[in-house]
Amino acid sequence: MVFTSLQISPGAGGLASMTTILAVETSCDETAVAVVRDRQILSSLVSSQIDIHQPYGGVVPEVASRQHVVTLAAALDQVLPAAAVDWADIDGVAATCAPGLVGALMVGLTTGKTLAMVHRKPFLAVHHLEGHIYANYLAHPDLQPPFLCLLVSGGHTSLIGVRGCGDYETLGQTRDDAAGEAFDKVARLLGLGYPGGPILDRLAQQGNSRAYALPEGNISLPEGGFHPYDCSFSGLKTAMRRLVEKLQVEGCEPLPGADLAASFQATVARSLTRRTIACALDHGFNTIAVGGGVAANGGLRQQLQAAAQDHHLRVLFPPLSLCTDNAAMIAGAAIDHFHQGHRSNWQVGAQSRLDLSQVMQLYS
Ligand code: KG4
Ligand code: ZN
Repeated sequence: MVFTSLQISPGAGGLASMTTILAVETSCDETAVAVVRDRQILSSLVSSQIDIHQPYGGVVPEVASRQHVVTLAAALDQVLPAAAVDWADIDGVAATCAPGLVGALMVGLTTGKTLAMVHRKPFLAVHHLEGHIYANYLAHPDLQPPFLCLLVSGGHTSLIGVRGCGDYETLGQTRDDAAGEAFDKVARLLGLGYPGGPILDRLAQQGNSRAYALPEGNISLPEGGFHPYDCSFSGLKTAMRRLVEKLQVEGCEPLPGADLAASFQATVARSLTRRTIACALDHGFNTIAVGGGVAANGGLRQQLQAAAQDHHLRVLFPPLSLCTDNAAMIAGAAIDHFHQGHRSNWQVGAQSRLDLSQVMQLYS
């Protein structure tokens, strides 16, 4: 069993009270545990299930749940010694409860509740996407709301106005596929394997991003014009499929994979960048923080950084290890809720969907 250990300790940011939380994250195909003190990561372990799901070309929910059961105990054995703390130092236990694969979530949630009961600690259920937002607070301890967060993961793509802990407004979103889902599907179309996003990103570096013109996924409004912040990726995916079919009919073998990957990636990055900058300027946000697995994407990082600079906006990306799923970000979110006096009760359950605007439902 291999755990990736992540140590990023930018400092506690001078907070008056020190709070230490142990967190568990099992919403999809990463088993993750972490101990975080204020905004300092003391230990963070991530065990990826990629090898297990690879033969199926995607995550098999039942297999993911079973593997979390196997891996979580070993991870928990290691996480306190790795942080050089013991249970007496832990102020509370947190676990992701939504959104995600329900069976997978239930493993971490039940484990988190049980640990909290046995060790008589407060329990906090955490919204996975709030965790992705908090990856930015961990990486940049001086970050303060309000700011705009571009959330781009395997299941979600949205623009969130962050006003404070638990105070979120969705200002824009995809109308169909999430950005990560589009990356994964197009990678499969190009025969790149699973998980597609990082592989496609690497291939795109060798290609010409102007080789093919692709649609950016505008959403028409009934009164004419386009929605300023909402987008669609299903049209882009279809355009890629048609382009690949056309190239195959023309006898183009092997396919120009690098050019196709680079053109697709640049189109997604352009679509997200244009909407994010417009949303920040229209709503008066000076800072943009990016979260979720697709925040690791080289093309997006480059385009958004350049555009933000042109408009004198600050743009923050977490380090790659905090972009994809991890438990440190879940602990980070729980610590802020803990400071606000928020606690979850034992009845809180796993939910496949929960809007970020409803995150306060998780606390009494
Ligand atoms: O946030 P995450 O780890 O899990 C979810 O909450 O969904 O995001 C996973 C998604 C996958 O679709 C994966 O292909 C994508 O993030 N991803 C990337 C990159 N690294 C991960 N997509 C594009 N470029 C990358 N470098
Ligand atoms: Zn995620």
